[in-house]
Amino acid sequence: MKYSNIDFNNKTVVITGGAGFIGSNLAFYFQENYPNCKVIVFDKFRSEETFSNGNLKSFGHFKNLLGFNGIIISGDINNKDDLARLEEYDIDYIFHEAAISDTTVADQKIMIDTNVNAFKDLCDLAVRKNASMIYASSAATYGNSTVFKVGHEKPNNVYGFSKLMMDNLAKEYFDKIRIVGLRYFNVYGPREYFKNKTASMVLQFGLQLLKGESAKLFEGSDNILRDFIYVEDVIQANIKACETDKNGVYNVGTGRARSFQDIVNILKRELEIIRDDTYIPNPYIGQYQFFTEADIEDTKKYLGYEPRFSLEEGIKAYLPEIIRIYEEEVR
Ligand SMILES: NC(=O)c1ccc[n+]([C@@H]2O[C@H](COP(=O)([O-])OP(=O)(O)OC[C@H]3O[C@@H](n4cnc5c(N)ncnc54)[C@H](O)[C@@H]3O)[C@@H](O)[C@H]2O)c1
Repeated sequence: MKYSNIDFNNKTVVITGGAGFIGSNLAFYFQENYPNCKVIVFDKFRSEETFSNGNLKSFGHFKNLLGFNGIIISGDINNKDDLARLEEYDIDYIFHEAAISDTTVADQKIMIDTNVNAFKDLCDLAVRKNASMIYASSAATYGNSTVFKVGHEKPNNVYGFSKLMMDNLAKEYFDKIRIVGLRYFNVYGPREYFKNKTASMVLQFGLQLLKGESAKLFEGSDNILRDFIYVEDVIQANIKACETDKNGVYNVGTGRARSFQDIVNILKRELEIIRDDTYIPNPYIGQYQFFTEADIEDTKKYLGYEPRFSLEEGIKAYLPEIIRIYEEEVR
């Protein structure tokens, strides 16, 4: 499905983080809808390196790009020589998804280097190429806030802080290029499996249930509510952002908070599984968001964005892929 009137054929699109979850979905959106679009994926891909929390330093995985027939550059956005490889292309659009996407990383230096400093280098590249810059911000900018509207940020971890600093930096470019930040809420959908433990709880609960286990929820999960958004709607927002004439940062969610318990209940209903759930203590209290719900009025107004998937519809659309992952990757 095409989300805009722009003809991306004969355009050059760079997707940083294109071997990751959202970036690879964007790459296939262009490949499938615009066969003559030149798509360049720039990604660090995964190495064996881990952060002190035990998680991998980058989650990019070649399997997310199986079937991709564009150009791939393996590179680190923190390395100026790597970034210089992009100079030879006449870039029209940059979709900047590369980041430390793991919200539990505590290393402040590498978080700011990667998420903020490297973003400036990419914005400068966009200015030199007169390209549009559409970048991933995050609902984590809101942290402990109870108002989920631009201007009400209160990040409670360095990840959320780094994304807010990206939004501040973006303002410096408002009068130079088209630059749009998208504050994704909790995204779920195909090609997230290689995020391991940081993949969405939709996938993790789904796999627990398929393995014959009980779903493991944090205590009080019927009162932990988030705005869960299907990746297809995130793609829609990215594409619509290419048409807006109002630079800024926009929320990308469904506009409706749902509980983690809802996810498990929907999965069990769809999978026709009757089983008790297990409740475990939440180890992240203090840096955890107990409620998020995107205010999407401006996103609708200025981007023409309209979410298409409720939690029920998103899970239903995703389920065949969860089953495939279970059968081909897990079992
Ligand atoms: N998935 C969500 O729920 C969500 C929510 C809010 C914001 N975001 C943001 O959306 C973007 C995409 O997230 P995702 O869920 O696809 O995560 P992801 O980890 O799957 O994708 C990020 C990609 O960036 C690459 N990368 C990491 N460090 C890099 C570096 N130094 N140089 C080059 N590439 C590097 C990784 O290899 C990975 O492929 C990120 O900026 C993330 O912070 C995601």
